[in-house]
Amino acid sequence: MKKHYAVQTRDDLFLLGNLHIASRAIHIMADFPIADFLTDGPKSCKAIADQFDFDQTATGKLLRVLSSFGVLEENGNGSFSLTDAGHYLCHSHPESLKDLLFYDESRWSPFGRLERTLKTGLPAFNELYEKPYFNHLEERPDLQKRFNRHMAAVSTHEDRVLAKELPLRQDDHFMDIGGGAGSLVLAALNQHKQATASLFDLPEVIDNISGKLDHRITPVKGSFFEPINAKCDAAILKRVLHDWNDEECLKILHNAKNTLKPGGKLLVIETVLQGAEDPPLTRLFDLFLLTLFGGGERSLQDYRDLFEKADLTLSGIINTDCSMSILEARKQ
Ligand SMILES: C[S@@+](CC[C@H](N)C(=O)[O-])C[C@H]1O[C@@H](n2cnc3c(N)ncnc32)[C@H](O)[C@@H]1O
Repeated sequence: MKKHYAVQTRDDLFLLGNLHIASRAIHIMADFPIADFLTDGPKSCKAIADQFDFDQTATGKLLRVLSSFGVLEENGNGSFSLTDAGHYLCHSHPESLKDLLFYDESRWSPFGRLERTLKTGLPAFNELYEKPYFNHLEERPDLQKRFNRHMAAVSTHEDRVLAKELPLRQDDHFMDIGGGAGSLVLAALNQHKQATASLFDLPEVIDNISGKLDHRITPVKGSFFEPINAKCDAAILKRVLHDWNDEECLKILHNAKNTLKPGGKLLVIETVLQGAEDPPLTRLFDLFLLTLFGGGERSLQDYRDLFEKADLTLSGIINTDCSMSILEARKQ
């Protein structure tokens, strides 16, 4: 992937400043799902509008925006077909982006209030919805399911890579805290056949997946802001700390630390900011995390400082092939 997309001209900058409209059109195309509807061949604007109960004039405008950016192709007879790139928005594509581009209204609208986040340093989401994002998911099981699918899409490849690198012993009992649907736990158990594992997450997440879990995984319901009633040789926090501010992270680290048996280790897995070489997507997600959750990506020094405040010492760093690092911490 290209590391930088620096605009060179006034025209490019003007286009970039309007690309939020194209992004939104792409989300709609994936969500409804217009892309899936087009997999069996070109369709007229009327057929697409009828299928999704859309206004035909508005639909035409959307389809032409998407055609301008090569997601669709407008054919001579007025029909629209998927381009090769457009196929990545189909659910059935093996490398589908549909679940990765999870932007329902509640993940999108906070950006209309980005200036509030800039003024306060706090997530615009909370102001707009009068609650934190994970409480919103709790009240919206439909979005909770989509969030779980989104995390599975984010994690499937990286979990296989990470599982090979995790510094676990064959007979360890490890616990993935905020482990979601459990894909890292499963991948790690496949690497460490004698190990056993617990999967800790919010009740609504665990309730969704309990019946579907591998028999080697013990599900544990709770909040990582409360003491966790379990012990392990290794506690994993993957893509968890980046959702929270420093104060909240310290509470999570404290509760995670208290699950460790003597000699146990905490494994924090995150994208670690490098500085000038960070790719644009890392920076986009960093701002997204602040606006939605009040969190953000951190540098190695930021993690060192957090660990220090939580009476933990950074004892090892494993850089992996999936752009995430495994930070090993031990009790001081
Ligand atoms: C960004 S997801 C990461 C999931 C998983 N670790 C992964 O990398 O795919 C954050 C996870 O934290 C969980 N979570 C949020 N608040 C929580 C809380 N208070 N206690 C326990 N888990 C929580 C969410 O349900 C979600 O599964």
